[in-house]
Amino acid sequence: MPYWTSLSQAGLLLISQSQQSHAQSGADILAFVDPLIGTLNGGHVFPGASLPFSMAKAVADTNGDGYQGGFASDGSNITGFSHMHDSGTGGSPSLGNFPLFPQSGCPEDVLDNCLFTKVDRATPRINGTVEAHPGYFAIEMASKVRTEMTVSNHTALYRFTFPEQPSERNTTLSPLILADLTDLPDSRINGSISVDESTGRISGSGSFSPSFGIGSYTAYFCADFSGAKVRDTGVFMNNRAGTEPKNLTVTADGINISPEILPAGAWTRFHAPEGCEIVARVGVSFISVAQACSSAEKEVPTFDFDATHTAAKNAWVDSLGVVSVKPDGVNDSIKTIFWSGLYRASLSPQDYTGENPLWNSTEPYYDSFYCIWDSFRSIHSLITLVDPVSQARMVRSLIDIYRYEGWLPDCRMSLCKGFTQGGSNADVVLAESYLKGITDGIDWATGYKAVVQDAEIEPSNWAVEGRGGLTSWKNLHYIPADDFDPYGVGPFTRSISRTGEYAYDDFCIAEMARGLGNQADYEKYLARSEYWQNLYLASQSSYINATNTNYTGFLQPRYLNGTFGFQDPIFCSPLLNFTSCYLNPDGHETYEGSAWLYTFFAPHDTATLIGLLGGPDTFVKRLDYFHTSGLLYIGDEQGFLNVFLYHYAGRPGKSAERAHYYIPSQFNDTLAGIPGNDDSGAMGSFAALTMMGIFPAAGQDVYFITPPFFEEVSIRNKVIGNVAIIRNIGFDPSYQAIYIQSATLNGTQYTKNWIGHDFFRDGGVLELTLGKNESAWGTREEDLPPSASTRGW
Ligand SMILES: *[C@@H]1O[C@H](CO)[C@@H](O)[C@H](O)[C@H]1NC(C)=O
Ligand SMILES: *[C@@H]1O[C@H](CO)[C@@H](O)[C@H](O)[C@H]1NC(C)=O
Ligand SMILES: *[C@@H]1O[C@H](CO)[C@@H](O)[C@H](O)[C@H]1NC(C)=O
Ligand SMILES: *[C@@H]1O[C@H](CO)[C@@H](O)[C@H](O)[C@H]1NC(C)=O
Ligand SMILES: *[C@@H]1O[C@H](CO)[C@@H](O)[C@H](O)[C@H]1NC(C)=O
Ligand SMILES: *[C@@H]1O[C@H](CO)[C@@H](O)[C@H](O)[C@H]1NC(C)=O
Ligand SMILES: *[C@@H]1O[C@H](CO)[C@@H](O)[C@H](O)[C@H]1NC(C)=O
Ligand SMILES: *[C@@H]1O[C@H](CO)[C@@H](O)[C@H](O)[C@H]1NC(C)=O
Ligand SMILES: *[C@@H]1O[C@H](CO)[C@@H](O)[C@H](O)[C@H]1NC(C)=O
Ligand SMILES: *[C@@H]1O[C@H](CO)[C@@H](O)[C@H](O)[C@H]1NC(C)=O
Ligand SMILES: *[C@@H]1O[C@H](CO)[C@@H](O)[C@H](O)[C@H]1NC(C)=O
Ligand SMILES: *[C@@H]1O[C@H](CO)[C@@H](O)[C@H](O)[C@H]1NC(C)=O
Repeated sequence: MPYWTSLSQAGLLLISQSQQSHAQSGADILAFVDPLIGTLNGGHVFPGASLPFSMAKAVADTNGDGYQGGFASDGSNITGFSHMHDSGTGGSPSLGNFPLFPQSGCPEDVLDNCLFTKVDRATPRINGTVEAHPGYFAIEMASKVRTEMTVSNHTALYRFTFPEQPSERNTTLSPLILADLTDLPDSRINGSISVDESTGRISGSGSFSPSFGIGSYTAYFCADFSGAKVRDTGVFMNNRAGTEPKNLTVTADGINISPEILPAGAWTRFHAPEGCEIVARVGVSFISVAQACSSAEKEVPTFDFDATHTAAKNAWVDSLGVVSVKPDGVNDSIKTIFWSGLYRASLSPQDYTGENPLWNSTEPYYDSFYCIWDSFRSIHSLITLVDPVSQARMVRSLIDIYRYEGWLPDCRMSLCKGFTQGGSNADVVLAESYLKGITDGIDWATGYKAVVQDAEIEPSNWAVEGRGGLTSWKNLHYIPADDFDPYGVGPFTRSISRTGEYAYDDFCIAEMARGLGNQADYEKYLARSEYWQNLYLASQSSYINATNTNYTGFLQPRYLNGTFGFQDPIFCSPLLNFTSCYLNPDGHETYEGSAWLYTFFAPHDTATLIGLLGGPDTFVKRLDYFHTSGLLYIGDEQGFLNVFLYHYAGRPGKSAERAHYYIPSQFNDTLAGIPGNDDSGAMGSFAALTMMGIFPAAGQDVYFITPPFFEEVSIRNKVIGNVAIIRNIGFDPSYQAIYIQSATLNGTQYTKNWIGHDFFRDGGVLELTLGKNESAWGTREEDLPPSASTRGW
C-alpha cells in the first residue's frame, strides 16, 4: 500500500500516523501527477515548474497554437524560457515576460551570428525529451541545449546544460544567454533593460497588456548566472547585437513599438563552463527590479538547483498530501487523472502578497482569478476543502480588491480588471466560504457590503465588474434582450444567462444575509433569486434537425415590453453554431452555451425547476437526453453541475453513472485529456471532486454524495487536523457496482444523498455500501439536497 495509510481511528495517534506515512507516501503521489495533461487540443495547461499558488511559474515557451500556458505538446518550436504564466486560460496567452534563451555559442564566434529575435531563434524541441513533474520541467532543444527548471515563490531557476561540441556550424562552446523584453502575446508597451558587465546580471522592466482584461501592468526581473566566467555583455535590437551600450529603453512614443516590430533585449556571453552547465536565477516582481533581485537572493542564495527542486517537491507533497486514497485495484491511469486534477487546481489564484503596486495593505493579495466565472463552480470549493488557509487568504484578497478598486472582480489577471462573463460570481465564492466557516482574518462585514453593492449599484463599466441592467433587474425582474440601460456600459448580450446568474448570485447574498442575521435582506434577495423563472417560456419546444425533441419549456429572451423573443434552444450547443455565443458584440442571449443548458441552471431551487419541467421522471429523461444527444459540452464549466442534478430528482445513482460516463472518456491522462480550457484548473477540480465522490453545489453548504473512484478517500483538514474518510464497502474497481445501497456516518444510518462541510471540519467516517443496481437510498423527498422553495431554505 504505497501511499495509503489506514486512518480509521480517531485522535492524536491518527494524526501522528498520518503525518509519518504522508512523508513516506508523498513521492508516490507525485509519481501520479502528470502536468502535461491538457497541453494539447485546447487545454492550455501550464505544465511547467510551480509551487502551490506561486507567482513564479517557469516553462519553455512555444510558438504554435495553444501556447496560452507557455508550452504546448505539439510540434512547435521553443522561443525561450520564462518565469510567470497562467494555466488553462481561454483568452490570449498570458504573461511569459522576459524570456531567457540560451545558445552554445555564436557561429564563427561572431556575435551577430547568434540568433536574437523570437522569430529567428525559435528552435525545435527534441521529441521525447520533455520531463514534467510537480516543481520541475525539462526539455532539450535541437541545438542540444538541455534546460531544466524549478522555482521558489518568486524565483525561477534554470539549469542549462550545453553540448561540449555545439551543433551549430563552426561553433565552439561559449554560451550566450539573452533576455528578451517581450511576453507571450507580444503585448509590450515599453520596456528597459540593462546588463552588468562584471557580473553578467541582466535586469529590467516592461509594461504589458493583460490577456483578458483592460489596462496594463508593469513587471520587473533580475537574472543572475552561476557556473561560468562572464566573457562579454551587451544589448540587442532587431537582429543585431553589440557590446555597447549596456542598456536600452524602448518607449511607445505614440507609435506601435511591440516586440514583433522592435525586438530588443540584453545578453551575457560566457567562457566555456566547467561541466557544461550554467544556472540562471531569475527573480520576478511587480514592484521593482530591486525587489526582484532581493527575492531571488533571499529565496535561492546559492543557486542550488537540487535543493530548490527538493523544496518544491516537498511543498507539493505537503499540499496534495492532505488527501489520501486507497488505490487497490484501481489502474494507474485513473490515479493519474485524479492526482493531476488535484494538482492543477492548486496552481491559481497566485499569491502576489507583497507584490501589489496598486495599493498598500496588510491584507494578502492574490491575482490570476482567471476567471471566477469558471472557478466558482468547483475550484474554490476544492481549495476550501484541501487548503482552507489559502482559501481564507484568497477571500481576504477579494475583499481587499473591493476595498481599493471599488468592486469585487469576476475575472482578474496581471493586476488588471478582467472581463465579466456573466454575473458577479465572486458573490458565490464569498457566500460559500462564509457558510463553510472559513473565517480566519476575514472581515465579513466588508465582504457583505461588497456583494450587496454588486446587487444594488450598477458600475459605469459592467464589462469588468458588477452587473449591468440592474434597473431592469429591480423593476422588471429579468434582464431584457433589448434592455434600455443608460446607467452603465457593457456588452448588451447574454440576457438569459445573466438573468440566471444574477438570480443565483442574489441567492448567495441571501444566504449570507441569513447567516449575518439580516432577515430583511435575506427575504429580499431570496425573492430576487426566483427571477430566473421570468424567462421561462413553458410553451417553447425544441427541434433538432426538424425533429421535435418533445421537450418543452425553456428559458427564452424577453423584451422590455414583456413579450418573449426566440433563440433556438439548441443554438450555441455543440449541435448548432457552437461558437456563436462568446463575449463579443454580436454574441447572443446565452453565454458559451445553449438555452437548453441555461434552463437547467437554478442550483438554489432545482425543486421548482423540476416542477416546471414536468416532475422528476420527465426531468430525469430530459437530463439523460441532454447528456446523450450531443447537446451538452462538458468542456465548459457550466456543464459540471448537470452531472449531479439527478440528485435533486431522487436518482443519485444516475449522477454516479454520468460521472463514469465522463471520466475517463472526456477527462483522461492523455496530453489531450481535458475537454476544454482548463481555466486555472477548473477541469482538474471537476475530475478531483467527482472522483472523491463529493462534487459541491458551489455557493451552498452542499456536497452531492456519489461513490469515490477509489475504495477509500480521506481528507485531512489542514487547519484542525480532523480527517474525513469516505469508504466504499463492496468497492468494484471495474465500476460496475457504482450504486449506493446504504450509508452510515460514524456508524449511524445516513440517508441523505448529500452532506455538509461540517463532515470535513469535524472528521468522521462515511461508509457507502455499493451494489450493481440503483437502490432506494437517497431517493426520498427528505433525502434530497435543499432547494429554496422547499426543504430548508
Ligand atoms: C516531433 O513530434 C511532432 C508532433 O508532436 C512532429 O510533428 C514532429 O515531426 C516530430 N519530430 C521529429 C523529429 O520526429
Ligand atoms: C570558424 O570560426 C573561426 C572563428 O571562431 C574562424 O576563424 C574560421 O575561419 C571559421 N572557419 C570556417 C570554416 O568558417
Ligand atoms: C521551427 O524550426 C524549424 C527549424 O529551424 C524551422 O524550419 C521552422 O520554420 C520553425 N517554425 C517556427 C514556426 O518557428
Ligand atoms: C511560498 O508562499 C506560500 C504562501 O503562498 C507560503 O505558505 C510558503 O511558505 C512560501 N514558501 C517559502 C519557501 O517561503
Ligand atoms: C543607461 O543607463 C544609464 C546609467 O544608469 C542612464 O543614464 C541611461 O539613461 C540609460 N540609457 C538608456 C537608453 O536606458
Ligand atoms: C506604498 O507605500 C510605499 C512606501 O511608503 C510608497 O512608496 C508607495 O508609493 C505606496 N504605494 C501606493 C500605491 O500607495
Ligand atoms: C442533424 O443532422 C446533421 C446533418 O445531417 C447530422 O450530422 C447530425 O448528427 C444530426 N443531429 C442529430 C442530433 O440528429
Ligand atoms: C416525439 O413525439 C412524437 C409523437 O409522439 C414521436 O413520433 C417522436 O418520435 C418523438 N420524438 C422523439 C425525438 O422522441
Ligand atoms: C415588444 O418588443 C419587441 C422587440 O422590440 C417587438 O418585436 C414586439 O413586437 C413588441 N411586442 C408588443 C406587443 O409590443
Ligand atoms: C450559424 O452558422 C452558420 C454556418 O456556420 C452561419 O452561416 C450563420 O451565420 C451562423 N448564425 C449565427 C446567428 O451566428
Ligand atoms: C481523452 O479525453 C479527450 C478530451 O476530452 C477526448 O477527446 C479523448 O477521446 C479521450 N481519450 C480517450 C482514450 O478516452
Ligand atoms: C464523527 O466522528 C468524528 C470523529 O470522532 C467526530 O469529530 C464527528 O463530530 C462525528 N460526526 C458526527 C456527525 O457524529
